[in-house]
Amino acid sequence: MKNTVVTFAQAKEQGIKQTVLTAYDYSTAKLMDEAGVNAILVGDSLGMVCLGYEDTLSVTMEDMIHHTAAVARGTKNALVIADMPFMSYQTSVYDALLNAGRLVKEGRAQAVKLEGGAEVADQIRAIMKASIPVMAHVGLTPQSVHTFGGFKVQGRTETAAQKLLDDARAVQEAGAFAVVLEGVPAKLAEMITKELTIPTIGIGAGPGCDGQVLVYQDMLGMFSDFTPKFVKRYGAIGESMVAAFKQYMEEVQNGSFPDEAHSFTMDDDVLDKLY
Ligand code: KIV
Repeated sequence: MKNTVVTFAQAKEQGIKQTVLTAYDYSTAKLMDEAGVNAILVGDSLGMVCLGYEDTLSVTMEDMIHHTAAVARGTKNALVIADMPFMSYQTSVYDALLNAGRLVKEGRAQAVKLEGGAEVADQIRAIMKASIPVMAHVGLTPQSVHTFGGFKVQGRTETAAQKLLDDARAVQEAGAFAVVLEGVPAKLAEMITKELTIPTIGIGAGPGCDGQVLVYQDMLGMFSDFTPKFVKRYGAIGESMVAAFKQYMEEVQNGSFPDEAHSFTMDDDVLDKLY
């Protein structure tokens, strides 16, 4: 079944949890789609897990379009959501609309995600008006790392919790079809989830959200630079990869690879004539 913003809304009504994973390339997207994940987010986390930056701030529109197009080519049923990178929407409503349009036209995204609450409501409204679905993102929004003074849980004080609730209401009112709650205390995320009519997708926000999202390299144990507390490892793929790389090196060095089964043959008389 094709997942759309409509099926996301229906899932909230029916109490069905939505599953979202990040992907950045064709073959990974294809595997996730085959597994039946509801949405694939081409996150700007690609800056860290694919490009080796220390945060998401250097990711460009060109990076996002390039990776979104690859994911879209590998996806049939999952909803493809592309992150709007830093400074592609904060500068003006016009820039937001233009760049959201590029992610759909050139990257073949089916929705875009941007970070922020009330301060980006005008951008959300304009993008939605152009018939591009928007997923909002509040709480620990990584593009604000320098204003937060690091990657810190948000909404722990009364003022901060109230601001988070107000921001979640503001993005819903602006027309977002869903909102990511990142790095938020579980009880606050549960309260916001009950308060909103649009689905909440949690990451580090406890079990009370309408769905969950994880960065796939984190959940598969492929990325060890930094492991947040909320990440559960569903595999040790990084270890398996290193073991496979080592075995390949050993077999190349000792001559056991490539063997006959992995080589091509030709008629001996052709070779004889050459000799
Ligand atoms: O960039 C990203 O991968 C994200 C998710 C972690 C929500 O924004």
